[in-house]
Amino acid sequence: MNDLQMKAPSTIDLRTEYLGLTLKNPLVPSSSPLTGDFDNARRLEDAGAAAIVLPSLFEEALLHEEEQMTRFLDHQPIGHPEAQSFLPDLPEYASELDQHVARIERYKESLSIPVIASLNGVTPQGWVRHAKDLQDAGCDALELNLYGIAARRDETAAEVEARYLQVVKSLLDVVSIPLTVKLSAQFSSPVNFIGELENLGVKGVVLFNRFYQPDIDLASRHVVPRIQLSHSYEALLRIRWIALLRGQVGLGIAGTGGFHNHEDVLKGLMAGADVVHVCSALLREGPDYLRTILFGMSAWMEQEEYSSVQQLKGSLSQRHAANPSAYERANYAELLGQDALLKVDLKRHRE
Ligand SMILES: Cc1cc2nc3c(=O)[nH]c(=O)nc-3n(C[C@H](O)[C@H](O)[C@H](O)COP(=O)(O)O)c2cc1C
Repeated sequence: MNDLQMKAPSTIDLRTEYLGLTLKNPLVPSSSPLTGDFDNARRLEDAGAAAIVLPSLFEEALLHEEEQMTRFLDHQPIGHPEAQSFLPDLPEYASELDQHVARIERYKESLSIPVIASLNGVTPQGWVRHAKDLQDAGCDALELNLYGIAARRDETAAEVEARYLQVVKSLLDVVSIPLTVKLSAQFSSPVNFIGELENLGVKGVVLFNRFYQPDIDLASRHVVPRIQLSHSYEALLRIRWIALLRGQVGLGIAGTGGFHNHEDVLKGLMAGADVVHVCSALLREGPDYLRTILFGMSAWMEQEEYSSVQQLKGSLSQRHAANPSAYERANYAELLGQDALLKVDLKRHRE
């Protein structure tokens, strides 16, 4: 820890609003196995986490369980009502849904920070109704991760978007807690789509999902899924779109992807994020690292004479930046012109 990080000033108002919740600061560990472990969740809270997003409950898991249950019930002999008591009990295992519900109940009982449950799916099928179980378990908000790869020859971009909006509508029909939607960057017109989400009643967006890339193993000739932790430079894509979005919509904005240290977080906030999610950095460094980011952030703000996160938020969004075209195509031709190589960040390239 350097000097800047050691002196954590307490006079700065770090509060921020997200999904109608007033959070004590803008640092929220995002959905991952780290937040799913109770001891780590407690350590994250102790280190200053303002809220926590739980690991996702997947559409596939819910559909699979429903299928199992139907198969099980279909195979029971239908006999005399008194014979009902001879039916074997349902298999004694905690379903994925039960485990998620139990986790929410335990977290709500033991932690004082808001708990955001996460659902992960892309089709408007029956699984969506289980969102109500998560709400009833007491979570403060729900995050829907629309993690989909649109790769069908016969499905247009408009159809993909309509399908996603249908999932969101179905969810909004069953829950009353605030809903935030985690998106990929792969939309032709992200701001328009996010506007549609807002029109439906969505309270926030999380920008952006990182897709886990399949790799080809040359030795085995197998396609292997790879989860790789992010790098700081990935935050730049998020920063651009957050800056473009802020001012065009009124819903809450969370940044996710490549936010590793206090500088990344400050940039996300200046672009216009209400909260910044951290995942890879915490998986690498451990839950206590959140404290380092928080201290670094407050110390920088004090040094630069900011008194609140509110003052910082959106101060460099496209609407407020001195050179707004930098967020768009405008300086592209100039950047790639004659002196392009001089502008390449070689240090970052070597990382
Ligand atoms: C091991 C691992 C598990 C994850 N699990 C989930 C998940 O269940 N649901 C979800 O929405 N995101 C999940 N994520 C994505 C993270 O929440 C986060 O959005 C992403 O890693 C980008 O943030 P980062 O650059 O700080 O890692 C996972 C990420 C990792 C590395």
